[in-house]
Amino acid sequence: TPTTTSDTVKSDAVEDSAFLKACRREPVPHTPVWFMRQAGRSLPEYRKVREGIGMLDSCMRPELVTEITLQPVRRHHVDAAIYFSDIVVPLKAIGIDLDIKPGVGPVVEQPVRTRADLARLRDLTPEDVSYVTEAIGMLTRELGSTPLIGFAGAPFTLASYLVEGGPSRTYENAKAMMYGDPGLWADLLDRLADITAAFLEVQIRAGAAAVQLFDSWAGALAPSDYRRSVLPASAKVFRKVAGHGVPRIHFGVGTGELLGLMGEAGADVVGVDWRVPMDEAARRVGPGKALQGNLDPTVLFAGREAVETKAREVLDTAAGLEGHIFNLGHGVMPSTDPDALTRLVEYVHTQTAR
Ligand code: CP3
Repeated sequence: TPTTTSDTVKSDAVEDSAFLKACRREPVPHTPVWFMRQAGRSLPEYRKVREGIGMLDSCMRPELVTEITLQPVRRHHVDAAIYFSDIVVPLKAIGIDLDIKPGVGPVVEQPVRTRADLARLRDLTPEDVSYVTEAIGMLTRELGSTPLIGFAGAPFTLASYLVEGGPSRTYENAKAMMYGDPGLWADLLDRLADITAAFLEVQIRAGAAAVQLFDSWAGALAPSDYRRSVLPASAKVFRKVAGHGVPRIHFGVGTGELLGLMGEAGADVVGVDWRVPMDEAARRVGPGKALQGNLDPTVLFAGREAVETKAREVLDTAAGLEGHIFNLGHGVMPSTDPDALTRLVEYVHTQTAR
Protein backbone atom coordinates (compact mmCIF):
# COMPACT_ATOMS: atom_id res chain seq x y z
CA THR A 1 0.00 0.00 0.00
CA PRO A 2 1.36 3.42 -0.89
CA THR A 3 1.98 6.03 1.77
CA THR A 4 1.90 9.73 1.02
CA THR A 5 5.12 11.63 1.68
CA SER A 6 5.64 15.35 1.23
CA ASP A 7 5.50 15.39 -2.55
CA THR A 8 5.29 11.96 -4.07
CA VAL A 9 3.80 8.58 -3.39
CA LYS A 10 6.39 6.05 -2.32
CA SER A 11 5.64 2.44 -1.64
CA ASP A 12 6.07 0.96 1.81
CA ALA A 13 8.37 -1.62 0.21
CA VAL A 14 10.86 1.11 -0.77
CA GLU A 15 10.57 2.76 2.64
CA ASP A 16 11.16 -0.64 4.30
CA SER A 17 14.20 -1.47 2.14
CA ALA A 18 17.47 -2.36 3.88
CA PHE A 19 19.12 0.64 2.20
CA LEU A 20 16.68 3.26 3.55
CA LYS A 21 16.61 1.58 6.96
CA ALA A 22 20.40 1.78 7.18
CA CYS A 23 20.29 5.46 6.12
CA ARG A 24 17.83 6.06 8.97
CA ARG A 25 20.03 4.00 11.37
CA GLU A 26 17.29 1.42 11.95
CA PRO A 27 17.89 -2.34 12.31
CA VAL A 28 18.38 -4.05 8.94
CA PRO A 29 17.82 -7.64 7.68
CA HIS A 30 21.29 -7.48 6.05
CA THR A 31 23.89 -4.79 5.37
CA PRO A 32 22.76 -3.04 2.18
CA VAL A 33 25.24 -2.76 -0.71
CA TRP A 34 25.51 -0.56 -3.76
CA PHE A 35 28.50 0.71 -5.73
CA MET A 36 29.35 4.18 -6.92
CA ARG A 37 29.64 3.96 -10.72
CA GLN A 38 27.88 0.58 -10.68
CA ALA A 39 26.38 1.52 -14.05
CA GLY A 40 29.04 2.07 -16.66
CA ARG A 41 31.96 0.67 -18.53
CA SER A 42 32.56 -2.36 -16.31
CA LEU A 43 29.37 -3.86 -17.81
CA PRO A 44 29.39 -5.27 -21.38
CA GLU A 45 25.64 -4.61 -21.63
CA TYR A 46 26.37 -0.93 -20.90
CA ARG A 47 29.06 -0.67 -23.55
CA LYS A 48 26.64 -2.25 -26.02
CA VAL A 49 23.73 0.16 -25.48
CA ARG A 50 26.06 3.20 -25.36
CA GLU A 51 27.76 2.38 -28.67
CA GLY A 52 27.84 5.47 -30.89
CA ILE A 53 26.02 7.69 -28.35
CA GLY A 54 27.90 10.46 -26.55
CA MET A 55 27.85 10.48 -22.73
CA LEU A 56 25.83 13.71 -22.40
CA ASP A 57 23.42 12.69 -25.19
CA SER A 58 22.78 9.40 -23.43
CA CYS A 59 21.85 11.27 -20.21
CA MET A 60 19.02 13.02 -22.09
CA ARG A 61 17.33 9.84 -23.36
CA PRO A 62 14.91 8.57 -20.68
CA GLU A 63 14.58 5.06 -22.08
CA LEU A 64 18.34 4.60 -22.34
CA VAL A 65 18.87 6.10 -18.85
CA THR A 66 16.26 3.68 -17.49
CA GLU A 67 17.93 0.67 -19.12
CA ILE A 68 21.44 1.65 -17.98
CA THR A 69 20.30 2.38 -14.41
CA LEU A 70 18.59 -1.02 -14.20
CA GLN A 71 21.52 -3.03 -15.61
CA PRO A 72 23.57 -3.31 -12.38
CA VAL A 73 20.43 -3.96 -10.31
CA ARG A 74 19.52 -6.95 -12.50
CA ARG A 75 23.07 -8.26 -12.66
CA HIS A 76 24.44 -7.69 -9.15
CA HIS A 77 21.24 -7.57 -7.01
CA VAL A 78 22.47 -4.40 -5.31
CA ASP A 79 20.20 -2.82 -2.69
CA ALA A 80 19.86 0.53 -4.48
CA ALA A 81 19.97 1.94 -7.98
CA ILE A 82 21.77 5.19 -8.77
CA TYR A 83 20.27 7.42 -11.42
CA PHE A 84 22.43 7.35 -14.55
CA SER A 85 23.61 10.88 -15.28
CA ASP A 86 26.69 13.00 -14.62
CA ILE A 87 27.53 15.85 -12.26
CA VAL A 88 27.84 18.31 -15.20
CA VAL A 89 24.34 17.59 -16.59
CA PRO A 90 22.66 20.51 -14.72
CA LEU A 91 25.39 22.89 -15.97
CA LYS A 92 24.83 21.74 -19.54
CA ALA A 93 21.09 22.16 -18.96
CA ILE A 94 21.47 25.87 -18.09
CA GLY A 95 23.47 26.46 -21.26
CA ILE A 96 27.12 26.12 -20.21
CA ASP A 97 29.09 24.97 -23.24
CA LEU A 98 30.75 21.77 -22.05
CA ASP A 99 31.32 18.21 -23.12
CA ILE A 100 32.44 14.93 -21.53
CA LYS A 101 35.49 13.71 -23.41
CA PRO A 102 36.05 9.93 -23.28
CA GLY A 103 39.00 9.02 -21.06
CA VAL A 104 39.34 12.66 -19.94
CA GLY A 105 36.15 13.86 -18.24
CA PRO A 106 34.19 17.12 -18.35
CA VAL A 107 35.72 19.92 -20.46
CA VAL A 108 34.29 23.47 -20.28
CA GLU A 109 34.65 25.62 -23.42
CA GLN A 110 34.89 28.99 -21.60
CA PRO A 111 36.11 28.63 -18.00
CA VAL A 112 34.41 30.72 -15.30
CA ARG A 113 37.08 33.12 -14.02
CA THR A 114 35.52 36.58 -13.59
CA ARG A 115 32.44 38.22 -12.11
CA ALA A 116 31.09 38.69 -15.64
CA ASP A 117 31.35 34.90 -16.15
CA LEU A 118 29.06 34.35 -13.15
CA ALA A 119 26.13 35.79 -15.09
CA ARG A 120 26.22 32.70 -17.31
CA LEU A 121 25.17 30.57 -14.34
CA ARG A 122 21.41 31.11 -14.37
CA ASP A 123 18.88 29.28 -12.20
CA LEU A 124 17.88 25.75 -13.16
CA THR A 125 14.15 25.11 -13.67
CA PRO A 126 12.45 21.69 -13.85
CA GLU A 127 11.72 22.38 -17.55
CA ASP A 128 15.48 22.52 -18.24
CA VAL A 129 15.72 18.86 -17.22
CA SER A 130 12.30 17.46 -18.15
CA TYR A 131 14.07 14.30 -19.37
CA VAL A 132 15.18 13.67 -15.77
CA THR A 133 11.60 13.80 -14.48
CA GLU A 134 10.50 11.51 -17.29
CA ALA A 135 13.32 9.00 -16.76
CA ILE A 136 12.82 8.81 -12.98
CA GLY A 137 9.08 8.23 -13.47
CA MET A 138 9.86 5.28 -15.75
CA LEU A 139 12.59 4.02 -13.46
CA THR A 140 10.67 4.00 -10.19
CA ARG A 141 7.89 1.97 -11.86
CA GLU A 142 10.45 -0.61 -13.06
CA LEU A 143 12.44 -0.70 -9.82
CA GLY A 144 9.57 -1.80 -7.58
CA SER A 145 10.91 -2.14 -4.05
CA THR A 146 14.50 -1.08 -4.94
CA PRO A 147 15.18 2.53 -3.92
CA LEU A 148 16.59 4.99 -6.44
CA ILE A 149 19.42 7.33 -5.40
CA GLY A 150 19.48 10.72 -7.09
CA PHE A 151 22.71 12.71 -7.11
CA ALA A 152 24.49 15.93 -7.93
CA GLY A 153 27.98 17.35 -7.82
CA ALA A 154 28.76 19.53 -4.79
CA PRO A 155 29.53 23.23 -5.36
CA PHE A 156 33.31 22.81 -4.88
CA THR A 157 33.67 19.88 -7.27
CA LEU A 158 31.51 21.61 -9.90
CA ALA A 159 33.51 24.83 -9.41
CA SER A 160 36.74 22.90 -9.90
CA TYR A 161 35.62 21.90 -13.43
CA LEU A 162 34.11 25.31 -14.25
CA VAL A 163 37.10 27.38 -13.14
CA GLU A 164 39.82 25.03 -14.41
CA GLY A 165 37.97 24.34 -17.66
CA GLY A 166 38.50 20.59 -17.21
CA PRO A 167 39.95 17.95 -14.91
CA SER A 168 42.91 19.08 -12.78
CA ARG A 169 45.29 17.52 -10.29
CA THR A 170 46.17 20.75 -8.49
CA TYR A 171 43.06 22.97 -8.85
CA GLU A 172 45.38 25.97 -9.13
CA ASN A 173 42.88 28.28 -10.84
CA ALA A 174 40.01 27.33 -8.56
CA LYS A 175 42.15 27.71 -5.45
CA ALA A 176 43.62 30.98 -6.74
CA MET A 177 40.07 32.35 -6.87
CA MET A 178 39.25 30.92 -3.45
CA TYR A 179 42.34 32.52 -1.82
CA GLY A 180 42.66 35.62 -4.03
CA ASP A 181 39.07 36.74 -4.57
CA PRO A 182 37.04 35.21 -1.74
CA GLY A 183 34.01 37.37 -2.53
CA LEU A 184 33.76 36.13 -6.10
CA TRP A 185 34.45 32.56 -4.94
CA ALA A 186 31.67 32.71 -2.33
CA ASP A 187 29.21 34.07 -4.90
CA LEU A 188 30.20 31.35 -7.39
CA LEU A 189 29.71 28.57 -4.84
CA ASP A 190 26.43 30.09 -3.68
CA ARG A 191 25.12 30.13 -7.29
CA LEU A 192 26.19 26.50 -7.69
CA ALA A 193 24.46 25.58 -4.41
CA ASP A 194 21.15 26.93 -5.77
CA ILE A 195 21.55 25.08 -9.08
CA THR A 196 22.54 21.85 -7.30
CA ALA A 197 19.65 22.03 -4.85
CA ALA A 198 17.19 22.69 -7.69
CA PHE A 199 18.57 19.69 -9.60
CA LEU A 200 18.25 17.43 -6.54
CA GLU A 201 14.70 18.66 -5.91
CA VAL A 202 13.68 17.69 -9.46
CA GLN A 203 14.97 14.17 -8.77
CA ILE A 204 13.26 13.92 -5.36
CA ARG A 205 9.92 15.18 -6.71
CA ALA A 206 10.15 12.63 -9.53
CA GLY A 207 10.66 9.77 -7.03
CA ALA A 208 14.30 9.52 -5.89
CA ALA A 209 14.29 7.88 -2.43
CA ALA A 210 17.66 9.33 -1.34
CA VAL A 211 20.21 11.77 -2.74
CA GLN A 212 24.00 11.80 -2.76
CA LEU A 213 26.11 14.93 -3.04
CA PHE A 214 29.44 14.09 -4.70
CA ASP A 215 32.20 16.40 -3.48
CA SER A 216 34.77 14.11 -5.07
CA TRP A 217 37.64 16.57 -5.07
CA ALA A 218 37.10 18.25 -1.66
CA GLY A 219 40.02 16.20 -0.31
CA ALA A 220 42.32 18.77 -1.94
CA LEU A 221 41.38 21.27 0.78
CA ALA A 222 42.70 21.95 4.27
CA PRO A 223 39.98 21.76 6.94
CA SER A 224 40.15 25.50 7.68
CA ASP A 225 39.66 26.36 4.00
CA TYR A 226 36.90 23.79 3.63
CA ARG A 227 35.10 25.23 6.67
CA ARG A 228 35.40 28.84 5.53
CA SER A 229 35.09 28.60 1.75
CA VAL A 230 33.19 25.41 0.85
CA LEU A 231 31.10 24.12 3.77
CA PRO A 232 28.60 27.06 3.69
CA ALA A 233 27.61 26.26 0.08
CA SER A 234 27.29 22.50 0.64
CA ALA A 235 25.32 23.16 3.84
CA LYS A 236 22.96 25.36 1.80
CA VAL A 237 22.28 22.45 -0.57
CA PHE A 238 21.47 20.08 2.30
CA ARG A 239 19.29 22.71 4.00
CA LYS A 240 17.33 23.39 0.82
CA VAL A 241 16.45 19.72 0.25
CA ALA A 242 15.90 18.81 3.93
CA GLY A 243 12.12 19.34 3.82
CA HIS A 244 11.53 16.37 1.53
CA GLY A 245 12.53 13.89 4.22
CA VAL A 246 14.74 11.75 1.98
CA PRO A 247 18.16 10.70 3.34
CA ARG A 248 21.04 12.88 2.16
CA ILE A 249 24.48 11.31 1.59
CA HIS A 250 27.70 13.37 1.47
CA PHE A 251 30.74 11.82 -0.23
CA GLY A 252 34.29 12.85 -1.08
CA VAL A 253 37.67 11.24 -1.79
CA GLY A 254 40.74 11.77 0.41
CA THR A 255 38.50 13.50 2.95
CA GLY A 256 39.77 11.78 6.11
CA GLU A 257 40.59 15.14 7.72
CA LEU A 258 37.22 16.59 6.62
CA LEU A 259 34.83 13.85 7.78
CA GLY A 260 33.61 15.79 10.82
CA LEU A 261 32.99 18.92 8.75
CA MET A 262 31.26 16.95 5.98
CA GLY A 263 28.85 15.60 8.58
CA GLU A 264 28.41 19.11 10.00
CA ALA A 265 27.34 20.31 6.55
CA GLY A 266 24.06 18.56 7.27
CA ALA A 267 24.10 15.11 5.67
CA ASP A 268 22.33 12.10 7.19
CA VAL A 269 24.97 9.70 5.82
CA VAL A 270 28.69 10.37 5.32
CA GLY A 271 30.64 8.51 2.64
CA VAL A 272 34.12 7.27 3.57
CA ASP A 273 36.96 6.34 1.21
CA TRP A 274 39.34 3.43 1.92
CA ARG A 275 42.00 5.53 3.67
CA VAL A 276 40.18 5.71 7.02
CA PRO A 277 38.83 2.60 8.82
CA MET A 278 35.06 2.73 9.36
CA ASP A 279 35.29 2.76 13.19
CA GLU A 280 37.76 5.67 13.09
CA ALA A 281 35.51 7.43 10.54
CA ALA A 282 32.58 7.02 12.95
CA ARG A 283 34.61 8.71 15.71
CA ARG A 284 35.47 11.61 13.38
CA VAL A 285 31.91 12.06 12.10
CA GLY A 286 30.35 11.77 15.55
CA PRO A 287 27.00 10.30 16.62
CA GLY A 288 23.70 10.60 14.78
CA LYS A 289 24.86 9.77 11.25
CA ALA A 290 25.08 6.60 9.19
CA LEU A 291 28.26 5.83 7.24
CA GLN A 292 28.79 4.48 3.73
CA GLY A 293 31.91 2.72 2.50
CA ASN A 294 34.66 1.78 2.14
CA LEU A 295 36.34 -1.06 0.20
CA ASP A 296 39.30 0.01 -1.93
CA PRO A 297 38.00 -0.42 -5.53
CA THR A 298 41.37 -1.85 -6.64
CA VAL A 299 40.87 -4.84 -4.29
CA LEU A 300 38.45 -6.17 -6.92
CA PHE A 301 41.43 -6.92 -9.16
CA ALA A 302 43.03 -9.21 -6.55
CA GLY A 303 40.96 -12.37 -6.74
CA ARG A 304 38.07 -13.80 -4.74
CA GLU A 305 39.93 -14.61 -1.52
CA ALA A 306 41.49 -11.16 -1.22
CA VAL A 307 38.15 -9.49 -1.94
CA GLU A 308 36.48 -11.49 0.81
CA THR A 309 39.28 -10.84 3.31
CA LYS A 310 39.16 -7.09 2.69
CA ALA A 311 35.33 -6.99 2.62
CA ARG A 312 35.31 -8.85 5.96
CA GLU A 313 37.66 -6.18 7.33
CA VAL A 314 35.23 -3.44 6.25
CA LEU A 315 32.32 -5.28 7.89
CA ASP A 316 34.32 -5.84 11.09
CA THR A 317 35.39 -2.20 11.42
CA ALA A 318 31.78 -1.14 10.72
CA ALA A 319 30.24 -3.67 13.12
CA GLY A 320 29.63 -1.14 15.90
CA LEU A 321 28.02 1.47 13.65
CA GLU A 322 24.36 2.43 13.99
CA GLY A 323 23.90 2.50 10.22
CA HIS A 324 26.26 1.05 7.63
CA ILE A 325 25.82 1.00 3.86
CA PHE A 326 28.48 -1.11 2.19
CA ASN A 327 30.09 0.57 -0.82
CA LEU A 328 33.48 1.05 -2.40
CA GLY A 329 35.66 3.93 -1.26
CA HIS A 330 35.29 5.47 -4.74
CA GLY A 331 33.72 4.43 -8.05
CA VAL A 332 33.96 1.06 -9.81
CA MET A 333 36.93 1.17 -12.16
CA PRO A 334 36.03 0.51 -15.81
CA SER A 335 38.21 -2.62 -16.15
CA THR A 336 36.71 -4.33 -13.08
CA ASP A 337 35.41 -7.88 -13.65
CA PRO A 338 31.63 -7.52 -13.15
CA ASP A 339 31.45 -11.06 -11.71
CA ALA A 340 33.70 -9.95 -8.86
CA LEU A 341 31.10 -7.28 -8.01
CA THR A 342 28.20 -9.77 -8.15
CA ARG A 343 30.10 -12.14 -5.81
CA LEU A 344 30.89 -9.25 -3.44
CA VAL A 345 27.21 -8.32 -3.10
CA GLU A 346 26.37 -11.94 -2.32
CA TYR A 347 29.23 -12.16 0.18
CA VAL A 348 28.11 -9.07 2.12
CA HIS A 349 24.49 -10.23 2.11
CA THR A 350 25.24 -13.73 3.40
CA GLN A 351 27.82 -12.55 5.94
CA THR A 352 25.44 -10.02 7.46
CA ALA A 353 22.08 -11.85 7.21
CA ARG A 354 20.24 -11.50 10.52
O1 CP3 B 1 26.58 4.38 -11.74
C1 CP3 B 1 26.73 5.54 -11.28
O2 CP3 B 1 27.41 5.77 -10.27
C2 CP3 B 1 25.97 6.69 -11.94
C3 CP3 B 1 26.70 7.34 -12.94
C4 CP3 B 1 27.67 8.48 -12.71
C5 CP3 B 1 28.41 9.00 -13.81
N1 CP3 B 1 29.10 10.08 -13.37
C6 CP3 B 1 28.40 8.44 -15.18
C7 CP3 B 1 29.60 8.62 -15.99
C8 CP3 B 1 27.97 9.24 -11.59
C9 CP3 B 1 27.48 9.11 -10.17
C10 CP3 B 1 28.87 10.26 -12.03
C11 CP3 B 1 29.38 11.33 -11.15
C12 CP3 B 1 30.63 12.02 -11.52
N2 CP3 B 1 31.01 12.50 -12.73
C13 CP3 B 1 31.60 12.41 -10.58
C14 CP3 B 1 31.51 12.15 -9.10
C15 CP3 B 1 31.81 10.72 -8.81
C16 CP3 B 1 33.26 10.38 -8.79
O3 CP3 B 1 33.66 9.51 -9.56
O4 CP3 B 1 33.99 10.98 -7.98
C17 CP3 B 1 32.62 13.09 -11.26
C18 CP3 B 1 33.87 13.66 -10.66
C19 CP3 B 1 32.24 13.15 -12.63
C20 CP3 B 1 32.98 13.78 -13.75
C21 CP3 B 1 33.29 12.77 -14.77
N3 CP3 B 1 32.39 12.31 -15.71
C22 CP3 B 1 34.50 12.03 -14.94
C23 CP3 B 1 35.75 12.22 -14.13
C24 CP3 B 1 34.28 11.11 -16.00
C25 CP3 B 1 35.23 10.03 -16.50
C26 CP3 B 1 35.87 10.33 -17.80
C27 CP3 B 1 36.38 9.03 -18.40
O5 CP3 B 1 36.02 8.75 -19.56
O6 CP3 B 1 37.13 8.28 -17.76
C28 CP3 B 1 32.97 11.32 -16.46
C29 CP3 B 1 32.29 10.56 -17.54
C30 CP3 B 1 31.32 9.56 -17.07
N4 CP3 B 1 30.31 9.78 -16.19
C31 CP3 B 1 31.28 8.20 -17.47
C32 CP3 B 1 30.20 7.62 -16.81
C33 CP3 B 1 29.69 6.19 -16.93
C34 CP3 B 1 32.26 7.54 -18.45
C35 CP3 B 1 31.93 7.94 -19.85
C36 CP3 B 1 31.37 6.85 -20.69
O7 CP3 B 1 30.93 5.79 -20.19
O8 CP3 B 1 31.34 7.07 -21.90
